[in-house]
Amino acid sequence: MNPERDPATFRQGKPLVVAIDGPSGSGKSSISREAARRLRAAYLDTGAMYRAVTLSCMRAGIDLTDAIAVEAAAKAAVIELSTSPDAEWVRVGGEDVTDEIREPKVSAAVSAVATTLGARAELVRRQQQMIAESGLRIVAEGRDITTVVAPHAEVRILLTASEEARMRRRGIQLGGTQTAVQLKEQVLARDAKDSTVVNFQQAADGVVTIDSSDLDFEQTVQAVLDTVFTATH
Ligand code: DC
Repeated sequence: MNPERDPATFRQGKPLVVAIDGPSGSGKSSISREAARRLRAAYLDTGAMYRAVTLSCMRAGIDLTDAIAVEAAAKAAVIELSTSPDAEWVRVGGEDVTDEIREPKVSAAVSAVATTLGARAELVRRQQQMIAESGLRIVAEGRDITTVVAPHAEVRILLTASEEARMRRRGIQLGGTQTAVQLKEQVLARDAKDSTVVNFQQAADGVVTIDSSDLDFEQTVQAVLDTVFTATH
């Protein structure tokens, strides 16, 4: 392999922040995690932080439409999450919530937190800190990563896929437990709600769009790595 094209050694010793944005079901998380593994980089799942705050609000009985209370809960939440692409865990207040934050009850409520601007400001601040602490070799994914959290990242990608492909993938991910109506609610309705505060459907200036509708997993990872190699030259 051409050493310039070996992800494990590419730009070692220099900053390499790869910011990946995209709608639900675009494959963002699994693709970002695998790209991080190959680049020997850290991995940051910012959506997990919104989910963690949502779960702590739900547990504390906080009204999710009360912006002041949600912002206070975001500031108070002790969230720890793995930044290793090989170990997935999230803790809130020291308790492991890795599985619980993926449950449909959290998925259905998370937009309320994601659209609370005070909560966003708090999480954006923490995410920027985590990126700095990674030694600036990291793949970070989430809705506002390319525009708000890491607008100066070396590589900024918008990973998209057709609605049909996104709903199909989310259905497989949830193990076929959801009806078509539930899936549509989760994928399309949630994106519509979220896009009231962050624009993640269109690439901002300087952001490379990768459409994965007709790509399999490996091809999509390769497309991301190819973008990393070319965008940082
Ligand atoms: O990617 P995900 O499904 O785990 O994201 C959970 C929710 O948080 C979803 O409603 C999008 C929102 N989110 C956000 O607004 N900004 C981010 N940086 C990451 C996620």
